[in-house]
Amino acid sequence: MLLTFYLLFIGLHVSEGCTLENRGEVLNIAAHAGGSVLLPCYCTDQHTTPERFSWKKDNKDTWEEISIESGQYRDRVQLFNGHSPGNVSLLISHLTEEDGGDYQCSVEGAHLIIRLTVKGCPLENRGEVLNITAHTGGSVLLPCYCPDLHTTPKTFSWKKDNKDTWEEISSESGQYRDRVQLGNGHSPGNVSLLISHLIEEDGGDYQCSVEGVHLIIRLTVKGCPLENRGEVLNITAHTGGSVLLPCYCTDLHTKVKTFRWKKQNRSTHKQEEISSESGQYRDRVQMFNGHSPGNLSLLISHLTEEDGGDYICAVKGSRLTIKLTVKGCPLENRGEVLNITAHAGGSALLPCYCPDLHTKVKTFRWKKQNRSTHKQEEISSESGQYRDRVQVFNGHSPGNLSLLISHLTEEDGGDYICAVKGSRLTIILTVKGCPLENRGEVLNITAHAGGSALLPCYCPDLHTKVKTFRWKKQNRSTHKQEEISSESGQYRDRVQMFNGHSPGNLSLLISHLTEEDGGDYICAVEGSRLTIKLTVKASLPFVPFALVTVIFLHIIVAVVYHTKRNKDPHYSTADGDGVVSLE
Ligand SMILES: *[C@@H]1O[C@H](CO)[C@@H](O)[C@H](O)[C@H]1NC(C)=O
Ligand SMILES: *[C@@H]1O[C@H](CO)[C@@H](O)[C@H](O)[C@H]1NC(C)=O
Ligand SMILES: *[C@@H]1O[C@H](CO)[C@@H](O)[C@H](O)[C@H]1NC(C)=O
Ligand SMILES: *[C@@H]1O[C@H](CO)[C@@H](O)[C@H](O)[C@H]1NC(C)=O
Ligand SMILES: *[C@@H]1O[C@H](CO)[C@@H](O)[C@H](O)[C@H]1NC(C)=O
Ligand SMILES: *[C@@H]1O[C@H](CO)[C@@H](O)[C@H](O)[C@H]1NC(C)=O
Ligand SMILES: *[C@@H]1O[C@H](CO)[C@@H](O)[C@H](O)[C@H]1NC(C)=O
Ligand SMILES: *[C@@H]1O[C@H](CO)[C@@H](O)[C@H](O)[C@H]1NC(C)=O
Ligand SMILES: *[C@@H]1O[C@H](CO)[C@@H](O)[C@H](O)[C@H]1NC(C)=O
Ligand SMILES: *[C@@H]1O[C@H](CO)[C@@H](O)[C@H](O)[C@H]1NC(C)=O
Ligand SMILES: *[C@@H]1O[C@H](CO)[C@@H](O)[C@H](O)[C@H]1NC(C)=O
Ligand SMILES: *[C@@H]1O[C@H](CO)[C@@H](O)[C@H](O)[C@H]1NC(C)=O
Repeated sequence: MLLTFYLLFIGLHVSEGCTLENRGEVLNIAAHAGGSVLLPCYCTDQHTTPERFSWKKDNKDTWEEISIESGQYRDRVQLFNGHSPGNVSLLISHLTEEDGGDYQCSVEGAHLIIRLTVKGCPLENRGEVLNITAHTGGSVLLPCYCPDLHTTPKTFSWKKDNKDTWEEISSESGQYRDRVQLGNGHSPGNVSLLISHLIEEDGGDYQCSVEGVHLIIRLTVKGCPLENRGEVLNITAHTGGSVLLPCYCTDLHTKVKTFRWKKQNRSTHKQEEISSESGQYRDRVQMFNGHSPGNLSLLISHLTEEDGGDYICAVKGSRLTIKLTVKGCPLENRGEVLNITAHAGGSALLPCYCPDLHTKVKTFRWKKQNRSTHKQEEISSESGQYRDRVQVFNGHSPGNLSLLISHLTEEDGGDYICAVKGSRLTIILTVKGCPLENRGEVLNITAHAGGSALLPCYCPDLHTKVKTFRWKKQNRSTHKQEEISSESGQYRDRVQMFNGHSPGNLSLLISHLTEEDGGDYICAVEGSRLTIKLTVKASLPFVPFALVTVIFLHIIVAVVYHTKRNKDPHYSTADGDGVVSLE
């Protein structure tokens, strides 16, 4: 009633100068606490200069003049009529909820009412307890914001419960120094707190207070409770190989600030840190916490037996022990003596291997014991007796150290030693040469001229490969032995051997025998010889027949001669000598 009357009264006294825009009206304007608002009030023609104007605020049904110098609006209000004298709009800054209410702009007796609503920050989730879980090393956002993110809270604070007292959180000092950040850059109503590089001590109750309204956030910071913590794991690996010692946080995303891998020295019982940069593990250890920060597993490569022992994976608050056993190569049949027999010219595999063929043996040796000096001499494929004749096969099966000796000679026989760290094996190799069958004896063989004779000479084992052997014949007058050759001399193209199929069969076949072939033949191999006395007999069955034929012809000729002589007198002188010569 009062207001209507007032407006009516004023309207009657409008002057010529300023016609107030929207006069007599009630404008509704909303703004946010902390923000600013422009209450519009201007003459239709902004160039007109009003004689007088005023801004008033309704305070319990009385209009109170707004002053920049004192009271509620001190230093918070501003006019812009300097440039446009007809524009007397009022800007109120740093709005509070108390600024809400009815404002009256009066210009030369004309009025305009502006109903201002100042929205404050009734905190989202106020009065509640939020539970948030994060991981050490990570970061967490503690949410706290006004329902309207444009609201600028007049006051807000973040506090942490420390033994039942709330302590203000500061980025400048204390536990949170340089680790906290307020998320209110673009949205003034968002006062969420970001905590980085979380440590377990950051866990606890946080209080966000905005204009006297509170919100509690219960933060749980999960550290790295190791999987299998407190336990002893037994792991077995092989020398030369690699092993993964497992150690990881229950949650693989956990970033572990500090952790250590240590090894217990069994004699001093001290724990020595494992480092990839120096000492025993130099360049042999590797970690994988790049992708999975909570995976602290340790990979040790090129294992040696000394790597065996107790390893400790330790993080803040929990630890894990791993008992590593590095198996070397306890040779199969170690300490024993194996007897192996092979033939000269052949090859022999001297077996020597680790029970686990995957074991990589760092150093091993094959040696041969000199039976007279008892010294052990290393066997080498590069020089000496075994040059280019020995071979090992540990390429595919690193634990198979067996030695293959080829082109065996009788000198290869003897005691071989296969030695690896901690165990050895002796192999007695017997190389059988060719102790000729019937050696030292004299065999008598008779053959006929024109025929052929097989002079038998062979090793007891026909598989024996005989490196060198000779067939010789003894010259009965000089007693010298002359080699028999198929290429020249008396036996040219007449002798043949059969040692292609049966290398141990050195028998000699002589064809087209003549009486001169008779004599003493010697079959000689290294270490034994055999003599064969060959007698070549003439082809006898033909001699008596020839003789009979000659006698028979003689008789016939004689009879014819006597008959002719008695009948023809000219015949007697002509053929008289012929009969004499025949006799
Ligand atoms: C009055 O002045 C204010 C502040 O300069 C401005 O924002 C507003 O637009 C002006 N009003 C009119 C009608 O020009
Ligand atoms: C937060 O956890 C507390 C106890 O730890 C529990 O009483 C409360 O109900 C939880 N609140 C929510 C929102 O999960
Ligand atoms: C508050 O700010 C943080 C950081 O900028 C942002 O992650 C978050 O989403 C914001 N909250 C709301 C409700 O907008
Ligand atoms: C590991 O070996 C130790 C003794 O060597 C034994 O006491 C323990 O029970 C073993 N642990 C497992 C998990 O096998
Ligand atoms: C254990 O400690 C002794 C004395 O410091 C040292 O000589 C030895 O090499 C250590 N053993 C291992 C396996 O590190
Ligand atoms: C840890 O990393 C190693 C190497 O990448 C992997 O073999 C192992 O499975 C990982 N452990 C876990 C629990 O993921
Ligand atoms: C190997 O031969 C030696 C003697 O020559 C003998 O004492 C030993 O028992 C034999 N070993 C085997 C496994 O036959
Ligand atoms: C054994 O040693 C002696 C003396 O060093 C040497 O003359 C002989 O050839 C050696 N025997 C073998 C089979 O190596
Ligand atoms: C070792 O290697 C040799 C040659 O390849 C093979 O004959 C032998 O069977 C192997 N030994 C074992 C135990 O595998
Ligand atoms: C071979 O003949 C010689 C004499 O000519 C004789 O002493 C020897 O016993 C004979 N050998 C055989 C095996 O008949
Ligand atoms: C035996 O040797 C003599 C003298 O060198 C030689 O004249 C003769 O032909 C040889 N006899 C045989 C059967 O080779
Ligand atoms: C040796 O070879 C010859 C010719 O093939 C054969 O007649 C003879 O029986 C062989 N000797 C043996 C012992 O096998």
